[in-house]
Amino acid sequence: MKRIAVLTSGGDAPGMNAAIRAVTRCGLDQGWEVYGISHGFAGLIRGSFVPLDARAVGGIIQLGGTMLGSARCPEFHQPTTHREALRQLRQKDVDALVVIGGNGSQCGAQELASLGFPVVGVASTIDNDLAGTDITIGVDTALNIALEAIDRLKVTASSHQRAFLVEVMGRHCGYLALMAGIAGGAELVILPEIEIGTEEIERELCAAYERGKRHALAVVAEGARNNAAALMAHFEKARERIGFDLRTTTLGHVQRGGAPTAYDRLLATRLGAGAVTALAAGETGVLVGTLGSRITRTPYAQVIGVQKPLDLELLAMARVLER
Ligand code: F6P
Repeated sequence: MKRIAVLTSGGDAPGMNAAIRAVTRCGLDQGWEVYGISHGFAGLIRGSFVPLDARAVGGIIQLGGTMLGSARCPEFHQPTTHREALRQLRQKDVDALVVIGGNGSQCGAQELASLGFPVVGVASTIDNDLAGTDITIGVDTALNIALEAIDRLKVTASSHQRAFLVEVMGRHCGYLALMAGIAGGAELVILPEIEIGTEEIERELCAAYERGKRHALAVVAEGARNNAAALMAHFEKARERIGFDLRTTTLGHVQRGGAPTAYDRLLATRLGAGAVTALAAGETGVLVGTLGSRITRTPYAQVIGVQKPLDLELLAMARVLER
């Protein structure tokens, strides 16, 4: 191994920079050359390679976003783009590639791995929807941002005896919503994995007032069928009947933009270093993640297309604590 390349792909996640830094410095420590690829797979197809030295990745560990830039690249499902990607990598004499990203990005990485190119993935997405790892880079920061918003909303909700819906990201996964609901002391969490109907949602919000609470706050996952937009439309019509006002806050991309927490910096650093360790050991076609407190390498076959299950015990606990 003489030269490796690293890219960040898909939605950015706070901590990606710390991962780039770790891959670069650990790669240099192995005696390899390290190249960064701008804007994910789109940059790979275009051949946007930049050499990285230790100084190039200085002063970035505390920054959100990604110094390499990221992109969604829907065309990377086509075999012609895979061939072009391999051509670019071979032309630049790159021996192995590190892909820092979430579900879609690791699918792209697996396509290259299945064509025989040495690829290692680093689990990075605020959605925490990747099998083969307990947690992904960026989740902790996104969760803390959601919590700050929830804490603030509870204050104003109590002053006005209003109900609030806070919609968090997560795509088809309810992890962020469930954790934000538990840590934020929400009265209800609404998740894509376990659908609940509008009648039950109404009942739960009303019950919070009946129990003497001064507010009722529900955390809603964007991927739920009854997401914030759907529930707002429903509650507009139900206002007279239920007797309280409802306000909606959609947190959106605010959750992705923060400076990484200490947890995310450390996780990203350990996973980035773990990717280089995997390459040095000749182990490729794997996702580097964390299970328990160990840094792990899970073969792509056990990651791609595998749905990460929701922790039902945590959901049951949330239901008790909501009271
Ligand atoms: O995958 C990360 C994520 O932030 C999801 O939670 C969200 O659904 C999606 O990306 C938004 O994508 P985009 O930034 O392309 O609008």
